[in-house]
Amino acid sequence: MKQTTDFITMKTAGDRIVMVTAYDFPSAKHVEQGKADMILVGDSLGMVVLGYDSTIPVTIEDMVHHAKAVKRGAPDTFIVVDMPFMSYHLSVRDTLINASRLIQETGAHAVKLEGADEVTEHIRALVLAGIPVVAHLGLTPQSVGVLGGYKVQGKDAGAALKLMEDAKKCQEAGAFSLVLECVPHQLAEKVSESLDIPTIGIGAGAQTDGQVLVYHDLINYGVERVPKFVKQYADVNALASKGIASFTEEVKTGLFPEEKHSFTMKEEVVNSLYG
Ligand code: KIV
Ligand code: NA
Repeated sequence: MKQTTDFITMKTAGDRIVMVTAYDFPSAKHVEQGKADMILVGDSLGMVVLGYDSTIPVTIEDMVHHAKAVKRGAPDTFIVVDMPFMSYHLSVRDTLINASRLIQETGAHAVKLEGADEVTEHIRALVLAGIPVVAHLGLTPQSVGVLGGYKVQGKDAGAALKLMEDAKKCQEAGAFSLVLECVPHQLAEKVSESLDIPTIGIGAGAQTDGQVLVYHDLINYGVERVPKFVKQYADVNALASKGIASFTEEVKTGLFPEEKHSFTMKEEVVNSLYG
């Protein structure tokens, strides 16, 4: 299993880092078998698994519950868990309590927090306490209300410079990696060049040090529309609805179950049942 320092070495060596999200036992198994370098138990959980329309309703309890299942499915992969909405904005003490639950109760290896500014103080405290941190800048979905929707970030010079400064602050606070979501590829490239820690992009072009996609988007599982930056590598929706429709059809027409799907008892026992 890779460690935080291995990811920094990968950046230096020019080896691209692959991160995929997972939320339960089977998805974690798939991601481990698919040889991703890291798993993210994302709070996208709220949208792709729980059916909310944002990540805001996701709680620490939700993240603990799902991260435990991910750990059981992927015992040999480095696991990062998202700190959910408002779990790292009160006191540093609250942040430490919440993060330690995500690590100690689940066996995950690191946490991810959105934002810089006042959040860097919390990143610093976590790292000092021994908890590895991934930072997350650009489109930060927990701030969707403030950002006014899911839009590309850092498009004008002012916003781009602010993002570059924020990225530096996250590195200085001790984050070992930075997720960049939905930013122009030129900005993501500049940020990646300016940092020692690896950047992991989603909708951030090809020049980040790694890429992350959401499991359900990547294999078209349960999702309806996917964003422009997603490439789909499988079609679970088609396979699953075809499979369920065949089951329905075969039950209705009496084709299922067949004898090979049934259990048999001795004839004399059957006869004894009727006296
Ligand atoms: O929650 C999530 O899946 C994420 C990724 C999109 C980076 O934060
Ligand atoms: Na997230």
